[in-house]
Amino acid sequence: MMTIHPVEGYIENLFLAVYDKKVLLLDSGCRSDAPRIEKAMKKKLKRPISQIALAVASHTHPDHAGGAHVLRKRFGTPVAAPKEINKWYAGVSGALQHFIDTMLAHYVAWTQKYPVERLWYKKRLTFDHPLKEGETLPGFTDWKIIETPGHTAHDMVLYHEKSKTLYAADVILKVGKNFRLPFPVSMRQEMRCSLEKLKSLEVEHLLMAHGGSHDTDDFPAIIDTLLEEVERGYPPEMARLKPLERFSPVLKKYYKELQETQKVA
Ligand SMILES: [Fe+2]
Repeated sequence: MMTIHPVEGYIENLFLAVYDKKVLLLDSGCRSDAPRIEKAMKKKLKRPISQIALAVASHTHPDHAGGAHVLRKRFGTPVAAPKEINKWYAGVSGALQHFIDTMLAHYVAWTQKYPVERLWYKKRLTFDHPLKEGETLPGFTDWKIIETPGHTAHDMVLYHEKSKTLYAADVILKVGKNFRLPFPVSMRQEMRCSLEKLKSLEVEHLLMAHGGSHDTDDFPAIIDTLLEEVERGYPPEMARLKPLERFSPVLKKYYKELQETQKVA
């Protein structure tokens, strides 16, 4: 029997999937979220932090991977992450993207009027379990890994078939009453395919890093809203920020190849 317990992170929502004697953390939050996770384990669940048998980092951004460094170092929590996660911030241009993304996380907190917290984290994540499409989480084989590139090249979500629960990480966001795409959608065609892939899942409980939990009896309709947003593109105020998100070496290569394909076509 598994139950989901939400934890309010600094600028995102975290979820603890709680089992009899072990806990799965979805996903790892910001660097400054480690004490919040510890508090939720001790005060809410009355369990030692050592019961977190796995912390997942769905992608490399500060509000998803930042906490993993601290949890692993401070408590020895095993960390699982996409196999290719460290390619995104590799090299000098990757370091620039890492800096920009961390500053953007501070900016998001500032717009919400949250007090300043330390978010800086190493761009390279040391992790114990590389994850890939179609496999299950180590020690939590009831959670299936689904690769969903689009936001970054390595984003993934997790599906718990038995309870029809999807942890949608940064692929599905809920802002107010509306379902939205993340910022940025770096790879439009890939995002389209990822959403189509999710559409075929039977989902009744949606867990979102930005938007919390939401029960639905029409998941395909949520996906259709997002597919429409992919076609529409960003509103002008968001589009202005897009040049800030082009420095990852993975993305540079992707755009170059895309341009070459278009030239040939
Ligand atoms: Fe993200």
